[in-house]
Amino acid sequence: MTLFTPELPDGRIAPGATLIRSWLTPDQQRWIADQFHAWARGPVPLRAAKVRGHEMSVRTVCLGRHWQPYAYTREATDVNGARVLPFPDWMIRLGRRALQDTGHDPDTVRAYTPDTALVNYYDANARMGMHQDKDETSCAPVVSLSVGDTCTFRFGNTESRGRPYTDLVLASGDLFVFGGPSRLAYHGVTKVHTNTAPEGCGLGHGRINITMRMTGLDG
Ligand code: SIN
Ligand code: MN
Repeated sequence: MTLFTPELPDGRIAPGATLIRSWLTPDQQRWIADQFHAWARGPVPLRAAKVRGHEMSVRTVCLGRHWQPYAYTREATDVNGARVLPFPDWMIRLGRRALQDTGHDPDTVRAYTPDTALVNYYDANARMGMHQDKDETSCAPVVSLSVGDTCTFRFGNTESRGRPYTDLVLASGDLFVFGGPSRLAYHGVTKVHTNTAPEGCGLGHGRINITMRMTGLDG
């Protein structure tokens, strides 16, 4: 039974930030959930990154480059030293389609070559504090995909973690793209709504979020 009904806005959330609901088909959601289970097996396992000595409640596996606060490396030097999995070509194509469908111009779409994905897993108690995605040198948009349980995603402003912000309900299959004037907006996840994953999305419990990024880094 669904205990929580997503009912918040669709479309343009802020300049440069767009939400498209149910962008991923159920088949695509299942494919991503299956891929996630494979990625989580390694060579670098799913792990909770430590921020200022405290483990995050979210667990993460990375593709292309490994993220640790606050740097990208090819090897997961804070986990087991292994090289992370390569960034898959299908995800580059998906990222370009995400930009196209959110109204980006053809040159921006063509040039979009994400090289890193942070794949986060949220259990019922996981949260993510308000932060900016600013470890990249490129200002290309961030593409965010959600699978599994619904969450409350807080999308704020570029000045501070506080108001004004918009609380969005992100459900399985939703696409959120933030770039342009919203690229450095603070954002976070305030709640995961348990037992809201739709039948057939490939994930029984919890929430997967993929954010793909162009880091702008060499090597
Ligand atoms: C993130 O900001 O890295 C993740 C956002 C989300 O889980 O929707
Ligand atoms: Mn982020």
